[in-house]
Amino acid sequence: MKNIVVLVSGGGTNLQALIDAEKSGIIKGGKITCVISSKEGAYALERAKNSGIPARVIPRKEYPDSVSYSKAVLAALNEEKADLVVLAGFMTILDECVTKEYAYKIINVHPALIPSFCGEGYYGLKVHEAALAYGVKVSGATIHFVNEKADAGAIILQGTVSVEKGDTPEVLQKRIMENVEWKLLPKAVSLFCQDKIEIADGKAYVRE
Ligand code: GAR
Repeated sequence: MKNIVVLVSGGGTNLQALIDAEKSGIIKGGKITCVISSKEGAYALERAKNSGIPARVIPRKEYPDSVSYSKAVLAALNEEKADLVVLAGFMTILDECVTKEYAYKIINVHPALIPSFCGEGYYGLKVHEAALAYGVKVSGATIHFVNEKADAGAIILQGTVSVEKGDTPEVLQKRIMENVEWKLLPKAVSLFCQDKIEIADGKAYVRE
């Protein structure tokens, strides 16, 4: 069984999707053993508590910079003996001290079709605002490994939705979460835990 540590910052609907998937047997070969929040009071912490999952808070605002914060996160991941780290709405970019030690062991969900609308500054509703401002007709979400560049690691899975006339960022976000994020994130986690993701030439391939 692989130890899955989930990093969160907010509402935690993706964490909930992972918890539900684990309960219903969709995640094979892994167990969520710890939730780490970058914010005190994040609703994701309630979700962990309600499911009896141990949680830690490492508040981003208590650290002067990304490196010192990342070192604290790294120490916690090592203590928790994490085999897989999932960034589920985690709104902080981790320094390479973490991404190097956990290379191809950190998975992120990004709410757009990478390489569009991604990188520094693109997070949460801002991503959907940008997609609507551009006028794209499809959007979606990307599940990818995390490396030292924001949203630039190997892509594992992507899924799409249509963008409809009159969509607001909130409406588009909900459509992408319901149809893509909450399904593909647990799927990718399960694939990882069953050693079904291969890396070749820096790209990820799924062995079904
Ligand atoms: C999700 O849409 C996730 O893809 C996005 O924030 C939301 C978090 O929701 N993540 C990013 O933008 C990361 N760059 P949640 O807390 O309810 O899972």
